[in-house]
Parts: sequence; structure tokens; C-alpha cells
Amino acid sequence: MLPDRIETQRLILRRPTMADARSIFENYASNPRVTRYLCWPTHRSLADAERFLQMLEESMRRGEQFTWLIEHRAQRKVGGSIGVVLQGNRAALGYCLAEELWGQGNTTEAAQAVVPLVWSLPGVERLEAVCHVEHLRSARVLEKIGLRYIGIDRHHSVLPALGRHRQDMLRYGVSRPAGI
Ligand SMILES: CC(C)(COP(=O)(O)OP(=O)(O)OC[C@H]1O[C@@H](n2cnc3c(N)ncnc32)[C@H](O)[C@@H]1OP(=O)(O)O)[C@@H](O)C(=O)NCCC(=O)NCCS
Repeated sequence: MLPDRIETQRLILRRPTMADARSIFENYASNPRVTRYLCWPTHRSLADAERFLQMLEESMRRGEQFTWLIEHRAQRKVGGSIGVVLQGNRAALGYCLAEELWGQGNTTEAAQAVVPLVWSLPGVERLEAVCHVEHLRSARVLEKIGLRYIGIDRHHSVLPALGRHRQDMLRYGVSRPAGI
């Protein structure tokens, strides 16, 4: 089981509730620059964020994933999300942040808090993540938190903002550290 709330130097990571829909929609999910490299389309209405939260709640209840909303302490508003999807002995890391919070080390700080928690989950032996081949900013975050470059997964997945074709993705990963 993972904690509902995590505090880092500048951030609060907390479990989402349905009341967060408007903040998610307004603060980042409706921004096409945020969703450009994501596997979900830009939210066009509040209802999209509500559906997203509903799906998230059900998936978290089934234990398939854990996702936290990211709040910047200084801003005191929802500014992104980070989470892991669990599949067998693997966890896949994903994250997104409001544009105004980019480039300040925020995602790295959030992910550095989440990675050790992943190893607290029994049975998880591997942490992986993919990002689009052009998305070097995200690749850099993965390197900074200790994931190693594995290779390119050709025709891996559709990113709605980039069209209907499956995109090539960079794959990063790390195995459970010895002794943990
Ligand atoms: C990708 C994203 C999560 C990065 O978050 P962030 O908080 O800006 O990341 P950080 O500040 O922790 O680190 C970014 C790093 O990338 C570097 N960087 C920025 N632009 C870059 C570029 N064009 N090429 C290579 N590196 C770049 C930064 O210099 C920094 O590295 P450094 O600390 O060594 O200088 C954020 O931009 C985002 O949410 N984007 C939209 C959603 C998204 O794409 N999610 C990921 C899907 S795979």
C-alpha cells in the first residue's frame, strides 16, 4: 500500500478526489502544450476531467495504479500528477505538470519521492517508463531519477496529439536495487 500523501521540500503529492476535476481541467489538462506527448487527449471540457478522475478512482481501487496530484506549496493549487501503473512485476512511471511549473526541477523532485515507494511494493522488481523520441525534457527527468536508457520501442503507442499512427518511444528502466 502506498501513502495517500507525500511531502517533499517544495511539493505536496496527494491522492485525487472528484473535487479536483476543475483544477485539473483548468490548470493543465486543457493545455495542448502539456498533452502533446501524452497518451490521453487534451481535455475539452470539465466532463473530460471528471471522466478521467472516475477512471482513475476505479483503477486505483482495483490496485492497478497509484496516482498522486502534485501541488506546489508556494502556489497551493493542483499543478500536475505523477503515478505508477502496475503490471505483474513491473511498475510504469508517468507524470505531467502545468506549464508554469516546468523547468524548475519539480518533476524530478516528485519522482525522486515516488521511486523509493515503488520498491516498498512487494513483487515489483522493475520500474520502467517510456517517452516520445523527441521528448528529451522527459528523457532527462528519467535519467536524473536513475532510470537507464534501454532502447527505442518502434511503433509503441498512439499519442492523440500527434495523430493516429503509433509513435516511436524511448524506453528507460531500472531493476529493484540490491538489498531493498
Ligand atoms: C516533461 C515534464 C514532466 C518535465 O518536467 P519538469 O518539471 O520541467 O522537469 P525538471 O525541471 O525536473 O527537469 C527537466 C530537465 O530537462 C532539461 N531540458 C529541458 N528542455 C530540454 C530539451 N529540450 N532537451 C533536453 N533536456 C531538456 C532541463 O534542463 C532539466 O534537466 P537539468 O536539471 O539537468 O538541467 C514537463 O515538461 C511536463 O509535464 N510536460 C508535459 C507532460 C509530459 O510531457 N509528460 C511526460 C510524458 S512522457
